[in-house]
Amino acid sequence: MNQREKEEYLREYALLKQKGKPFFPYAVAKDAVMMVVVMVVIIAMSIVLGAELGPKADPTTTTYVPRPEWYFFFLFELLRVIKPPELVPFATIGVPTICMIMLFLLPFIDRGPERRPERRPIATLAGILVIFSMGYLTYLGAAAGSPNLIEMEVAPEYEQGKVVVAQSGCLACHKIGENGGDLGPHLTEIGAVLDKGAIRRTLDNPTAPMPSFASLPEDKKTAMVEFLASLKGEDEGRTQNDSGKEG
Ligand code: HEC
Repeated sequence: MNQREKEEYLREYALLKQKGKPFFPYAVAKDAVMMVVVMVVIIAMSIVLGAELGPKADPTTTTYVPRPEWYFFFLFELLRVIKPPELVPFATIGVPTICMIMLFLLPFIDRGPERRPERRPIATLAGILVIFSMGYLTYLGAAAGSPNLIEMEVAPEYEQGKVVVAQSGCLACHKIGENGGDLGPHLTEIGAVLDKGAIRRTLDNPTAPMPSFASLPEDKKTAMVEFLASLKGEDEGRTQNDSGKEG
């Protein structure tokens, strides 16, 4: 802002100030009224509509996979997209912190008097980019499907087993392809390590902390074992027509 602009601005400001009303009590009173209205609406809605409560929390569950609220989907998605573990803290804590600090510093960095968006191309572009990428990540996070989903191409005969495994909560502890956790061993190539009999024995009689799946209906268990035994790593075995139906 140069000297002339500054004087012009101050003159304009003095004129406007004469015409206006003081912040206290006028604006404060209006704000207070609006605050009361909003509070009354919230109280009325919570009395009339009530809050939705999910099912009662089960502290013994081992298969619960937490999902964030929708407004955290972008962070959640960032966590999913960033694969190398050493980058995860940077992406999920570092990047948002840097953005917050930048936001705080913005008035000190950008001292220009311009307010029109088209005259502030850098700020406008940065703002649009941030909103766009958060929107896109939120969409991806929402569309990522439930964590009870295995995103892997399998031959049609293993499709059912894939669904059973996905829905049985194995992903809470096991990684299959891109999905799942790290508590238990990765199962992406389990078919190359264990045969069907061994997989079935693990399900019936696992080592803690893995829960037993002995009570699973027989047809589901068979489908599950068929699918897992077909996972032999790099494509081979996944699509090829595995003739081994013994087990
Ligand atoms: C609470 C976490 C948890 C859940 C849920 C779970 N597992 Fe496990 N699983 C483990 C752990 C931990 C091990 C390793 C146990 C050990 O040390 O022998 C394991 C081992 C296995 C193994 C043997 C792996 C190997 O390399 O020897 C198989 C197969 C297996 N799990 C399949 C499943 C399937 C299928 C499901 C879902 C129906 C499932 N697991 C659910 C934790 C879990």
